[in-house]
Amino acid sequence: MSDTHPSAASAAPAASAAPAASAASTTPQAPATTPAPTSTPVPGHKPQAPFTLAIDIGGTGLKASVLDATGAMVADRVVVKTTYPCPPSKMIDDLAALVAPLPPADRVSAGFPGMVRNGLVLSAPHFVTLHGPGTTIDPGLVKQWAAFDLAGALAARLGKPTRVANDADIQGAAVVKGKGLELVITLGTGVGTAFFYDGRLLPHLEFAHHPFLKGDTYNEQIGDAARKEIGNQRWNKRVRKAVATFRALSFFDHCYIGGGNAKKIHGTLGSDVSMVDNAAGILGGIRLWDESHIAV
Ligand code: BGC
Repeated sequence: MSDTHPSAASAAPAASAAPAASAASTTPQAPATTPAPTSTPVPGHKPQAPFTLAIDIGGTGLKASVLDATGAMVADRVVVKTTYPCPPSKMIDDLAALVAPLPPADRVSAGFPGMVRNGLVLSAPHFVTLHGPGTTIDPGLVKQWAAFDLAGALAARLGKPTRVANDADIQGAAVVKGKGLELVITLGTGVGTAFFYDGRLLPHLEFAHHPFLKGDTYNEQIGDAARKEIGNQRWNKRVRKAVATFRALSFFDHCYIGGGNAKKIHGTLGSDVSMVDNAAGILGGIRLWDESHIAV
């Protein structure tokens, strides 16, 4: 995770949700513990500052909304397809265009489908491909994404303090209850994982790329491409195996499964496993500013 403030004087004008940062811009503080985010506006609820522009960067879609201090969405979610090839400059342009119609925000949170540390992209499995997830990797794109300062680029473009973290970590932050060891698995284009202990995010591990069955990684066995190839029934069996493997590995107290493909799971996976809403990918954005939830 990182907190990147735009250098106000030199920042490019915000083509974004937010007006350009002023020289006096400071980071608004979230309450010590932010309430549980919600996508359903509470009747009569008066939106409260600070406002967070929450962006969910995905291999197949880019999504964003603005959340108030209580975690309520103050605008309908905007969504656009991710198009390829997608070098960093195009990603920044696409995100700026996506969020332009949204109301102003004080700060920006972005979830990224790869390893992120201190705002820098350490891996971008989807965006280094020429035609989208699973297609040919382009050495030129690998070079452009390597250590790309995503938090810095977004802060400069949107004119607001920006934090970036792995997408599963952000989604997880929206759903964990803060008790014991909690695992969040996101099933979408790729397989995201995030571990929390007593509500605090543990350092991110890329289980997506760890061998799981027959030398194939979790991504290859239970990612969306595998589901499409083998069908829902066989994919469900693999998901059960994956959850059992994580249970044996971590002795999690509770596991949450989210992401677009969570709804394709049949039956129950155990009393220690629950399904969560895909909106968490955006709603967790507010928690990125709450030191009691995410601190790596
Ligand atoms: C990436 C993870 C990400 C997951 C879900 C995987 O391909 O390696 O970092 O969390 O997809 O988007």
